[in-house]
Amino acid sequence: MSRIALGLSFDDPTLETAVRGGLDAVETALRTACDSNDFFVNAAAHHLVDAGGKRFRPLVSVLAAHFGSPDRPEVVPAAVVCELTHLATLYHDDVMDEAPVRRGAASANSRWDNTVAILTGDFLFSRASNILADLGPFAVKLQAQTFERLVIGQIHETVGPVEGADPITHYLDVLADKTGSLIATAAEFGAYYAGATPDVIAGLRDFGEQIGVAFQISDDILDITSDSDESGKTPGTDLREGIATLPVLYALRSADPGSERLRALVSRPLTEDDEHAEALSLLRDSDAIAEARQTLAGYAASARASLSTMPHVPARGAFEALTEVVIARTG
Ligand code: IPE
Ligand code: IPE
Ligand code: MG
Ligand code: MG
Repeated sequence: MSRIALGLSFDDPTLETAVRGGLDAVETALRTACDSNDFFVNAAAHHLVDAGGKRFRPLVSVLAAHFGSPDRPEVVPAAVVCELTHLATLYHDDVMDEAPVRRGAASANSRWDNTVAILTGDFLFSRASNILADLGPFAVKLQAQTFERLVIGQIHETVGPVEGADPITHYLDVLADKTGSLIATAAEFGAYYAGATPDVIAGLRDFGEQIGVAFQISDDILDITSDSDESGKTPGTDLREGIATLPVLYALRSADPGSERLRALVSRPLTEDDEHAEALSLLRDSDAIAEARQTLAGYAASARASLSTMPHVPARGAFEALTEVVIARTG
């Protein structure tokens, strides 16, 4: 039976059973979508799906479907499209970020090489397109628009803010595009294909966008505070690559004389092991981490607020609980 992302617990046992059933169906279809008759492609495409992952986006789709008729046949394939899109971007992201570990396993780029990782990601996108074609033009268009935002977010992260722009606003816009976009669409797909009303679809989309940003901030905090057993990734990857995430941006903005050394370290990529370890340790104890946690809580509160006009179905309580666990995972 499916594990539920982030250990979310349910007040309503009937909902829990139904959500687990939905996620089991997503899991089966997801693995089928990664199958290939080509022995090597099959191994490369199954590598990360077999390694683990929280299935956060399918959880959002399946819960959103509980605002309508969750057993409608398009709900599961739409959730699979979201997870496949996410999975493919992870193959590519680990190339871009030069990350050695993903989901507790060697990243595809480190197990094979960048070319295999890029092409396997492309293979998974083609499988997502195949499912989208069966869902029809609405789904094709929504996924295309979502993927455009996701890619633009990754590009903006890479090129950084334009001259004179506020780096924190830039960073939060990047998170909305690279992560909020797909989680918003996961919610929209679930609600739309379950036949929810337009107001509910719009409200849940807004919820997905806000919780998506909160989720990514929590991921960036965990990149600094967690060890690799917890996250299944190599801690401090962002720092090593010189990607300034929210805690680093808050540290750079601070005028506190006590954090001068931290500011000097994080203003450039940290390729030397001793400097990298020193920066991680200073960041872990910094006010900047506390400030990032406050921003995370703000997005989680906005996500919760967007549920306030939603009908009082049991899935609303589960979404409210999800806003709490996204905060709680950073400790
Ligand atoms: C990792 O996503 C990248 C982010 C957008 C934070 P997840 O944290 O959902 O990764 P998996 O799917 O559980 O591996
Ligand atoms: C993951 O982003 C890729 C997308 C959100 C598109 P990150 O690079 O921030 O996430 P991790 O930490 O590697 O999972
Ligand atoms: Mg990455
Ligand atoms: Mg990245």
